[in-house]
Amino acid sequence: VKDPNGKVVFKVVDHEGARFPVMVFGNVLDRLKALSEATFKDTDLFVVSYPKSGTHWCYEIVDMLRNNSSEFCKHMPPLIDLIPVEKLMQVPDGVFVSHLLPQHMPKDAIQKRCKLVHIYRNPKDVIVSFFNFLKKTKEGAMMQDMEFDVFFDLYITDQLPGGLWTNYIKAWTDFKKENPTYPILNICYEKMKKDLKGHVKMIADFLELKPSEELIEEIANKCEFQTMSKFKNSNVPESMRMVTDVRDKHIMYRKGEAGDWKNWFKVAQSEAVDAEVEAANIPLEIQYT
Ligand code: A3P
Repeated sequence: VKDPNGKVVFKVVDHEGARFPVMVFGNVLDRLKALSEATFKDTDLFVVSYPKSGTHWCYEIVDMLRNNSSEFCKHMPPLIDLIPVEKLMQVPDGVFVSHLLPQHMPKDAIQKRCKLVHIYRNPKDVIVSFFNFLKKTKEGAMMQDMEFDVFFDLYITDQLPGGLWTNYIKAWTDFKKENPTYPILNICYEKMKKDLKGHVKMIADFLELKPSEELIEEIANKCEFQTMSKFKNSNVPESMRMVTDVRDKHIMYRKGEAGDWKNWFKVAQSEAVDAEVEAANIPLEIQYT
């Protein structure tokens, strides 16, 4: 991917309707192939999302609920898109995360009807979060000096890894339409921010767990942005080295707000996203503020 001056800013590979970053740590296509052949347990669970939609937040809640504890995890969520398949088998608690489209998910997991928690977020905040995040990653090192406007143009012309938000959302809502009884819980980032405790309860119900009222309260308190980001920023896992050279902070925790896009977007950019979303005809089950 090149910026308007012709400078290469990102290395990507296109595969079956999706665009992947060329990772500094391994070939994504080999990994996808190995992943499609990997086996999972029917109790395994996947938090799925378009990048920067609150994946780590949702993972933490699911993980705490499954462990019946309000202790923060000390590891990075196991992102199946990136980690070698042999390492996946060592994941002890059977909770994974993924930004893959349905057609790239491990076939075995889908056949076994592993539960999926899908978190989605206002695409405008996603774009801002993505911009700030990618610059700090090893893959995004070449776009360190990029202006937001340039990044936005690359996004809206569908040049970035991950593709358009609408494409991701459509793929998953179509998957649900074709598999109406498949267990997927849709979580809206903005709604979860407004009522965290209610959402912890909702996720527990979906997982068929019965945590105590006290535990639900504790998990909700711990997973408020201020508390969670403070902990994560002072306990940066060693494996973050795979993603970034920034050592002092956990780069996944920036502002944790709904509506930060208003500080970044021009009117025309906001209208362009609105038009994109409208044209995609996103089903009513996906509603954000
Ligand atoms: P911002 O960059 O807008 O701050 P992901 O985990 O999918 O990479 O998403 C990262 C985004 O989720 C970041 O958004 C991050 O700050 C936000 N986030 C992480 N933990 C959160 C929490 N506990 N509450 C609200 N937002 C959170």
